[in-house]
Amino acid sequence: MTHKPQPTSGSQDGIESALHEDRVFPPPASADLGLGKWHVGSMAEYEAEHRRSVEDQDGYWGEIAKRLRWMKPFDSVLSGGFPEPRWFEGGQLNACDNCVDRFVDEGHGDEVAIIWEGEPVGDGGPEIRRVTYKELQEQTARLGNALKKLGATKGDVITIYMGMVPELAIAMLACARIGCPHSVIFGGFSSQAIADRVQDASSKIVITCDGGWRRGKVVPLKENVDNAIEMMGDTSPVEHVLCFGRCHNKIAWGELDRCWNEAMEAASADCPCEPMGSEDMLFLLYTSGSTGKPKGIVHTTAGYLLYAAHTGRLTFNLEPDQNQVYWCTADCGWITGHSYIVYGILPNRVPTLMYEGAPNAPAEDRFWDIVERHKVTQFYTAPTAIRAFMKWGDEHPKKHDLSSLKILGTVGEPINPAAWMWYRELIGGNRCPIVDTYWQTETGGHVITPLPGATDQHPGSCTRPAFGVDAAVVQRDGTECEADKGGLMVIRKPWPGMLRGVFGDRQRFIDTYFSTVYEGGDVDGTPYYTAGDGARRDTHGNFWIMGRIDDVINVSGHRMGTMEVESALVAHDAVVEAAVVGVPHEIKGTGIAAFVTLASGFEAGDDLKKQLGAHVADQIGAIARPDQVRFAEALPKTRSGKIMRRLLRDIAAGVEGTQDTSTLEDFNVLAKLRETEE
Ligand code: WT7
Repeated sequence: MTHKPQPTSGSQDGIESALHEDRVFPPPASADLGLGKWHVGSMAEYEAEHRRSVEDQDGYWGEIAKRLRWMKPFDSVLSGGFPEPRWFEGGQLNACDNCVDRFVDEGHGDEVAIIWEGEPVGDGGPEIRRVTYKELQEQTARLGNALKKLGATKGDVITIYMGMVPELAIAMLACARIGCPHSVIFGGFSSQAIADRVQDASSKIVITCDGGWRRGKVVPLKENVDNAIEMMGDTSPVEHVLCFGRCHNKIAWGELDRCWNEAMEAASADCPCEPMGSEDMLFLLYTSGSTGKPKGIVHTTAGYLLYAAHTGRLTFNLEPDQNQVYWCTADCGWITGHSYIVYGILPNRVPTLMYEGAPNAPAEDRFWDIVERHKVTQFYTAPTAIRAFMKWGDEHPKKHDLSSLKILGTVGEPINPAAWMWYRELIGGNRCPIVDTYWQTETGGHVITPLPGATDQHPGSCTRPAFGVDAAVVQRDGTECEADKGGLMVIRKPWPGMLRGVFGDRQRFIDTYFSTVYEGGDVDGTPYYTAGDGARRDTHGNFWIMGRIDDVINVSGHRMGTMEVESALVAHDAVVEAAVVGVPHEIKGTGIAAFVTLASGFEAGDDLKKQLGAHVADQIGAIARPDQVRFAEALPKTRSGKIMRRLLRDIAAGVEGTQDTSTLEDFNVLAKLRETEE
């Protein structure tokens, strides 16, 4: 039986994909790549180690945990089970210490920890900074003290809304240093999104930049924070805004504002890392759910850090002293940046590259220019970016020497085999293994992924579970699906990197992740972690992810809640009701189609379409701007008034009549909707 990939591209026909996904690419011998030794070098080794890691969790993770530097050893490895397991109880450690200070102590202070390249390219080339472990130590210590002076005490959530500058990583690590969980908000989000998140976390301090470079323009970050604070009015918890000057754009300066440089100069560089309990919160990261309110996903100090660092090491075969330069193109505002720019890379003492701007600034070859200039060895990006590169043309990568590359990675959504093949040939020179890493904000790190030296790669499949992950495809009663039968993606045993909660909402945490599947189908039995994705396992045991099972839309590898976009639309005077669905999109994988019904007195037309698009971008961010806006007289609903989004999905995608309409209230509605145009 052949796999039918997600309809990611309109132009891609099924025959082409069916041909491609039967291909298998065995892992290269490490000698061929000049990477040093594989950490896991064969499938036999993988199988044995994976079995041990799920059967003897205490033994396996107790041993791996020795890779971290502990201030106080732990008493136990795993205590309790789903939904609220505890890892490494009794232990104390600090995440910043494990990313920074320990390497200074071990004599590596002058080695480069972060390589940074700015977006603008002047006559002398782009601005490049290399930050050593010693410098990171000094900067995080000063910032830690500066934050304390602003009133930060252990446990306070600090919000970070910055562009991709080294100071963003410094801010994250400084928070970790003094025991303040951070909440990083992606710099592309709007004031409303900032206000919602700051309020939910009761954040007293916001760290931001005057502006950030994006495609030759300055994103007014500080202004967005100012507006968010104004929106919150009397209910704003914000007491201080610490602002780093990057673009020197004009900004307003008010009572709450503090200057980064002045604060750093005034602060002492002596700020020991705070001893933190294993289960203390390291950070909060908001992600969309299927209801309107964003969820604050809680990650802990020991389990998360260990899991991110361990998966980072194995998936990318990270190893110090091998001239490795690792680059993940994500923004630190997403989990990918948290785990695989900062916390999962730095503890491995391999330099992590941060790039400030867009992939097409000043031209479409910018990424390849960066790879060549810094001799990048591991490169990690998203399928949506790969599809854009394909569209921009082969000439861009072909202009550059990409021979330094050894391992390629993807993350965020299923990759269509055509994009996988292009990535392998044009970027990887048919030599680099591709790791298609499946995971989520909630999992903390990779849960299903090839290992570059062990796993056969199948274009479009994320292949095999990571160590310690007991992944399965099951039916609702918990029984495992037969090979090639689609079902629910679950994880049956706790792993260290898993989320520990939804901030301030225990019920939502349990309802969302632990209420769908129980062992043996008995609701009084052990719950399984449900990822919310559909998947199937093939006859070789490889996993193929089929996409979200709920209404959440995955745009360019980022989850958007339909509700968030719908509430933004309804907030516009012209809109009475809105329903939003995902629609196949050539570049983004999935785009957003919005169906709206208008208030009387408003004219349907291109003008209003544009206005509504701009309105959503303004309310949530450009990433949520609908690709299609359709005006409808009414929306298809069930008798109980629930909008039937699955019917809208078909209409948006231009497919007809594949759905069960027996619960539809008014059949005329559907006929009329089909007449609406894009
Ligand atoms: C959802 C998680 C994890 C960082 C980026 C997105 C989808 C992620 C893959 C992959 C197929 C994937 C899933 C998942 N997803 N990686 N390699 N193959 N699907 O993080 O916003 O938490 O989204 O992204 O649907 O549940 P996120």
